[in-house]
Amino acid sequence: MMKLAEILPHLLYEFPHESDLLRAIEELSRKFTTERNKIGDYLKDERLVSAYTAFYLTTNFPKLRAIMGWMPEEWKADLKESALIDLGAGPGTFSLAWKDFFGTKEFLQIETSPAMKKQARKLWDGLHASGEMKQEGNPEKSVLLFGHSANEMKSEDVIHYIEKYSPDHILFIEPGTKEFFGKMLEIRTQLLKTGWHVLYPCPDETECPMKGSEDWCHQFIHVTHDPEVERLSQIMRMDRKLLPLTVQAYSRKEYPKSHERLVRVLPETKFSFEWEVCHDNHLEEYQVMKRGMDKTTEKRTGNTLAGVGLSTELEKDISGKKRVKLR
Ligand SMILES: C[S@@+](CC[C@H](N)C(=O)[O-])C[C@H]1O[C@@H](n2cnc3c(N)ncnc32)[C@H](O)[C@@H]1O
Repeated sequence: MMKLAEILPHLLYEFPHESDLLRAIEELSRKFTTERNKIGDYLKDERLVSAYTAFYLTTNFPKLRAIMGWMPEEWKADLKESALIDLGAGPGTFSLAWKDFFGTKEFLQIETSPAMKKQARKLWDGLHASGEMKQEGNPEKSVLLFGHSANEMKSEDVIHYIEKYSPDHILFIEPGTKEFFGKMLEIRTQLLKTGWHVLYPCPDETECPMKGSEDWCHQFIHVTHDPEVERLSQIMRMDRKLLPLTVQAYSRKEYPKSHERLVRVLPETKFSFEWEVCHDNHLEEYQVMKRGMDKTTEKRTGNTLAGVGLSTELEKDISGKKRVKLR
């Protein structure tokens, strides 16, 4: 796990006191949530770029690990052999997490903010990260990652980048908001029309059953941070242990994938867990009975979050609700 203390010496801006760092993080967080119209401002300010690096870098390590837990092994094996194009790389937070997870040797970071580019270079060199990190070029066999960046672009820009770099795989790790889901659906439609296959989260390539509904398809992960980052989060009363996110993955090739995806955990009853599941692109209600489960299985099942693939056996169809057994 990357620690805050390892990052602090490589920031563009040196925070005189912890309180200055906290103030900058709060300012940033306001820009990401309530002041979305001013979202571009932080990119010009080395102090806010440094605060972003300090606070969000460590989170991307456990985030990437948790996301990869949902992905097919065959796909991950192919990613291991590919260069990473980190699009909207910011300070290169996901490149570092990616290197840690996959041991990738070749990185291309694409960024429009000069302050972010400068921070990314300082961090990469300062941490003596092995492997080659370029800020221009176009590697041959690649995976294109949008890490919290597609939400700051227009859908056309996202498609333009995909055409320009012509990668073999695409991964989106974006905010779990309804607003972003609208944009993600536009991009999904465009990609499916142009020969891409959706690998995650959709079981099928037909129209998304959540299109036009009040709900939106997003996932959740439990994250454990470096204790120093945890302490800062607590001071600011920011709960970052349970994170909502939008993850989608596409590939030029088809891979075996799950036909049942948990999309929403509904309130459990005394006797059962109640889930909304996307089964071959149809939304269905599943009921998993607690009876017969040992304590550990019951606890694990109760901690299951939206995003995981399921494999079930139908026990009974009760007026539209499916009572199933987990395999
Ligand atoms: C919230 S940061 C994310 C940084 C990093 N990927 C991460 O997940 O920590 C979004 C980044 O996207 C970049 N960005 C926004 N629009 C862009 C565009 N059209 N082309 C390239 N980068 C862009 C911004 O400059 C910013 O650094």
